[in-house]
Order: sequence, then C-alpha cells, then structure tokens
Amino acid sequence: MLKVTKAVFPVAGLGTRFLPATKASPKEMLPIVDKPLIQYAVEEAMAAGITEMIFVTGRSKRAIEDHFDKSYEIEAELEARGKDKLLELVRSIKPSHVDCFYVRQSEALGLGHAVLCAEKLVGDNPFAVILADDLLHGTPPVMRQMIEAFDHYHSSMIGVEEIPSQDTGSYGVIDGSEWGDSIIRMAGIVEKPEPNVAPSNLGVVGRYVLKPRIFKHLRAIKAGAGGELQLTDAIQSLLADEQVLAYKYHGTRFDCGSKLGYLKATVEFALRHPEVRSEFRAYLEKHLSLLQM
Ligand code: G1P
Repeated sequence: MLKVTKAVFPVAGLGTRFLPATKASPKEMLPIVDKPLIQYAVEEAMAAGITEMIFVTGRSKRAIEDHFDKSYEIEAELEARGKDKLLELVRSIKPSHVDCFYVRQSEALGLGHAVLCAEKLVGDNPFAVILADDLLHGTPPVMRQMIEAFDHYHSSMIGVEEIPSQDTGSYGVIDGSEWGDSIIRMAGIVEKPEPNVAPSNLGVVGRYVLKPRIFKHLRAIKAGAGGELQLTDAIQSLLADEQVLAYKYHGTRFDCGSKLGYLKATVEFALRHPEVRSEFRAYLEKHLSLLQM
C-alpha cells in the first residue's frame, strides 16, 4: 500500500466573509496569534508524514508562495543581529525535506474543481486534502489520526464531526453506519442539505484522505449545490466504485471561515501561547469581571 506523502490545499477562495482584510491577501494568510492559518494546516500535514504540499491558488497567491519560500533578506537581518531563535523559527516554516508546489485554479468553479486542478501533481497516489479555514486541534494532530486509519483500512477517509442538526445546510453531511472505533461505513454523502432532508447530523470537516480514483469522478461531475463542482458529489459517485469511510476525529475544530470561529480560535490559541498566555488570561479575567458588574 502506498504511503500518503502529498497534501492538496485549496486556497483560491475569495474570502469575502473577511473583507476588507482579504482584499489583497488570501484568507488562509490570516494569523491566529502569530501564525497564518495555512501554516497550521501545513504543520498538521507535516506531522502526518506528508512531504509534498500542493497549493491550488487563485489571485493573490503571492503571499502564500512567499511565506513558504526562503526569505534571504529576513534571514540575513536576523543573522546579523544574532537573533538565533527567530532565525530558527523562520527557517522551520518549510524544512528542507518538504517541497511546495503551486497550481493555479483559473476559474472559481468549486472545491471539486480545485482538487481536480491538482490531478497532474498528485498522479496515481492517495493524497490528503486540507481546508485551512477549518483549524483543527488534536493530539495526535487530526491528519495523522486519519492517515493511521487510512493505512489500516486502505479506504478513502472523510473527516466528520457531530454538528447541530439545524446547521446541516453549511456542511457536507454523510449517511452510514458505525463500523469500528470512530469509523463509519459510508452509504452516501450530500452537500449542504436542509435539516429536514439531512441523512444524519455528521458533518464533513475540511479533512480528506482520498484514493486517486476520485479524479475519474471529479472529471465526470456536473455543477451541484450552489452551482459549483462539489467534491462531495464526486465522493458520492466514488461510493459506487469502492468503499469510503468516515472518520470521527478526536480534537476540537475552529471554523475560521466565520468571524466568530476565528475569534474563538484566537482566544483559545492565545491562552496556550507560551509568550502571552499568562498576561492574556489575566486580561480576560479582569475584563470578564468588569463585564459582569
Ligand atoms: C466545504 C465542503 C463541505 C464541508 C466544508 C467543511 O464547504 O464543500 O462539504 O462540510 O467545506 O468546512 P464550504 O465550507 O467551503 O462551503
């Protein structure tokens, strides 16, 4: 069985929910405390043993490309000033054993289309898909959990979690039956169903491990929910060919595609950040007690 060494990061979205912050910079570059969302996503992939990062970009891709490129100016400056810790931090963004590739999605035709744009770079290999605006905190990191499950079951794995039933219209929702520890054998998947027709309350989070046969289905699908080419519809079609499993990940998700989720992530990660956590906690406590007065 082939090892999963490639991850696809669709980063071509317009990020309209965060305008004006995302006017000239991709939403995946929004920082949580001091690290952009896309770096959290790449670190999650690296922790899973992935070494080839494939970014499907749109306009304003430069910030992402620059972020994972060597910065001679910054490194020279930090070296000259003897700032060894910062130098190490900047160099660790892309370790030398990791390679980054970029492919352009020239039209915003949907997530399914974005993944299809990576076909040539992925080739005939199983691969991960990571949506950076779903920030997942897990021990071990969630993609590692999923690849371990993939290595065990040899089936495509779709990351899911229980969602409030009134929210099904914001997610891909799966149908299936419990099969093993955290594993559901999928019988179907539907993109953004209304609550009254949703097959379950298990919503897809932005983590997938897919077998390359998905590309055949991505090439065949027609526009679905929202008039877009949906990855969900290709997975539904893949189910006719082979088994697909859903994986209930262990961890916490922050929906950083919404302002509220983004703010929650900021607070949670600040409360864990060694540099600011104690002062930030004291600030929050003081602030909250003032609010209660
Ligand atoms: C995408 C997928 C959806 C999934 C969601 C997770 O939707 O199409 O199936 O549940 O990501 O974040 P989007 O949020 O891009 O509309």
